[in-house]
Amino acid sequence: MEDNEHAGHAAHTDHAQHQHGHQPGMHPSFLRVIQQKQRIKQKLAKVKHRIGVYSAKGGVGKTTVAINLAFSLSKKGFRVGLLDADIDCPNVTMFLGMEDTKMEPVMPLKPVDKEGVKVASTAMLVDELKRPIIWRGPLVAKMISDFLENTDWGELDYLVVDLPPGTSDAPLSIMQLLDLDGFVIVTNPQRIAAMNSIRSGLMAKRMNAPILGVIENMSNGKPSKNTENVVSTLQSELLGIIRARPEVADLTDRGAIHVLSNRDVEKEFDTIITKITSGERKV
Ligand SMILES: Nc1ncnc2c1ncn2[C@@H]1O[C@H](COP(=O)(O)OP(=O)(O)OP(=O)(O)O)[C@@H](O)[C@H]1O
Ligand SMILES: [Mg+2]
Repeated sequence: MEDNEHAGHAAHTDHAQHQHGHQPGMHPSFLRVIQQKQRIKQKLAKVKHRIGVYSAKGGVGKTTVAINLAFSLSKKGFRVGLLDADIDCPNVTMFLGMEDTKMEPVMPLKPVDKEGVKVASTAMLVDELKRPIIWRGPLVAKMISDFLENTDWGELDYLVVDLPPGTSDAPLSIMQLLDLDGFVIVTNPQRIAAMNSIRSGLMAKRMNAPILGVIENMSNGKPSKNTENVVSTLQSELLGIIRARPEVADLTDRGAIHVLSNRDVEKEFDTIITKITSGERKV
């Protein structure tokens, strides 16, 4: 296997094995997946921690949380990357007012600096953001793995990953490829969000990635019974709450970063990152 772990030899070796059957019992496509995972691992070798921000339910605030976690950690002095892993609807660049920012199409791809955080999104590779990306599952999975394999993050303390909603192909592929240290589950006070958050958490557990904790977004100031149910069912902890605020939506529309623009949101995220970076659940 050793020779095959070098990116440059992958296609050739794969072909050769297919032709001559050097790996009895190892299907070439299986081998390809292993090799790709290995190459992604090498690309992320200098990234100390990878945190996935996840919820099976759409619209609960995953992107909002991912961005604010990244900038809060960065403000504390950590070296941080922010990966937009939502291929269908990559929103991170819009949230950050970076819609016109492009990654140079040179390999390896380099994330773009935004106020000290390294940001990478497939939206930075396409010209027309409004065009819907209509791809079937296998192509989305391939896009994600190609993107991960070719992006050079350099040295990071934390890579925060904004995951797409759902429990199907796209989030699953990323979870498998990235070897995340753990997940932050985002929910809102409603029962429907709680049910889906439990589903998200159980999926994360099946991927053997620990759940770092649960965040109640769009909160009225006190975690709801539904959120408490999520925390207890997943045997996790509440990392914090983020209040529902019209200003948050306004700032989003202006491409402003909440924790850098609103002291109350900043405090809420300080509580959350203190729990993530210290204590029992330290990653
Ligand atoms: N605490 C909050 N107060 C007010 N508005 C919020 C809050 N959090 C998020 N929003 C708004 O709710 C909408 C959905 O948020 P966001 O895009 O972060 O959710 P998401 O879970 O990433 O959605 P998707 O599943 O589509 O990726 C956005 O318009 C955002 O500005
Ligand atoms: Mg999102």
